Amino acid sequence: MPRVLTARTVADLVAPALTAESSDPTYGRLTEALRHLIADGRLPEGSRLPSERDLPGPLGLSRTTVTRAYTELRAQGYLRTRRGSGSVVQVPDVPGGRIDHLLTPSALSDGAIDLTCTAAGAPGGTSEAYEQALEELAAYLPGTGYYPGGVPVLREVVAARYSARGLATTPDQVIVAPGALAGVAIAARGLLPQRERVLVETPTYPNAIATLEGAGARIVAHPIDHERDDWDVGGLGRALRQSGARVAYLIPDFHNPTGALMPSHQRAEVGRMLRAASVVPIIDESIVDLPLDGQPVPEPLGRHVPDAITVGSVSKWLWGGLRVGWLRVPRGRAEDMAASRLKLDLGVPVLEQLVAARMLQASDEILPQQHARLLEGREILLAGLREYLPEWRVRVPKGGMALWCALPHSGSTALATAARAYDVALASGPNFAAGGGLDGWVRLPYVLGRDQLEQVAPRLAQAWADVQAGHVTLAREERGGRQSVARRIIA
Ligand SMILES: Cc1ncc(COP(=O)(O)O)c(C=O)c1O
Repeated sequence: MPRVLTARTVADLVAPALTAESSDPTYGRLTEALRHLIADGRLPEGSRLPSERDLPGPLGLSRTTVTRAYTELRAQGYLRTRRGSGSVVQVPDVPGGRIDHLLTPSALSDGAIDLTCTAAGAPGGTSEAYEQALEELAAYLPGTGYYPGGVPVLREVVAARYSARGLATTPDQVIVAPGALAGVAIAARGLLPQRERVLVETPTYPNAIATLEGAGARIVAHPIDHERDDWDVGGLGRALRQSGARVAYLIPDFHNPTGALMPSHQRAEVGRMLRAASVVPIIDESIVDLPLDGQPVPEPLGRHVPDAITVGSVSKWLWGGLRVGWLRVPRGRAEDMAASRLKLDLGVPVLEQLVAARMLQASDEILPQQHARLLEGREILLAGLREYLPEWRVRVPKGGMALWCALPHSGSTALATAARAYDVALASGPNFAAGGGLDGWVRLPYVLGRDQLEQVAPRLAQAWADVQAGHVTLAREERGGRQSVARRIIA
């Protein structure tokens, strides 16, 4: 059932735009205000707007004005109207597509459900943050615009957030990077002057494997328990001692893809093992701000490892399009990391840094919106899987953006191939495997709108039936499983 927005709610949301001074016609301003609210998610995709009869009253406008605005929105692809279901919000095609699949831009048809990416649209208030940042930008224009360490205001905000989470940090320990993955690249290049072993969990975030390898890492895969939040601390300790790795890449907070959250009581122990084995962890906290069950997130793992490099970004909880992330580096490594940073690029655009600083400062208002969206998405997807694919085992993650599902038997790569016939793009389990395998698993993000999420399980049930009936033939290059890492962005 679509969420119904009352006329009062919508009227309150558009009121500021309608009362502002403007010579534009009222219907145009109403159209613009509604379009804006849809684009930034405050009028969520799949929700039902008040009828053309109900909205004029609270707005103090004529019915003709509202009808004209709705007609315009329909023409622009922001609304669809069906007899009996009213005017339902939809998000029109994004210029360039929701995701740029780089080397395979035409692989997905229009309207396909793309589940390769754990990233959502920008939250409400993003356009306003850009507008305000644009005003602040004026003060920076007389300078050169080069801030390889990051614009001071952003470094201060990021440092203060770490300190508030119990990891005392000063702005000079923060290096701003174009995303968390770029942070991993900077850290890896700074830590690995020559080919060295790097321990990574398997499953793990696939682009990090590629980035670490690109920096010269020889990957040592350490299997983790997929189905519990607990880390196998003893196993990790042995792997750290025996692998000969000097560096480890870890995602303790709503791990991608499993969603697992390392419990507080294990963090000190894991830290002790890393220190004892003299292994420097690159701790990826990209997803730390997305707890969904109201629980407090444990203290940063970096608190237990003075030598740790922590990377983070705004991509997951705010917007990937900002391309703003950072590294928190120990003082003793600041110089090495600054040098490593300069080998890769010279910094992040000032405007985006200013937007990120503003939005980080407003995170207490933004995060609840994002959590609510994700919670709803998680419930829709879980309900669909329980109904259509009850034989799949799905652990409900305490946070993050995706479900990690155990299939009754291997066939994830075949499933991804079969799903294409039903217009669904999937990242199969082997994409997340550092050392091969994981064909019995599939990751399903719940970041899309209701309309699309409701279709995921029924379509996958059809694709899974094809797999079980033996109707799927894998292309030769697909048989190794990790084919799509090279060809698609999997985020
Ligand atoms: C664990 C993890 N790290 C890094 C990234 C990439 O983040 P960014 O867009 O900030 O580079 C992702 C994206 O999915 C991720 O899941």
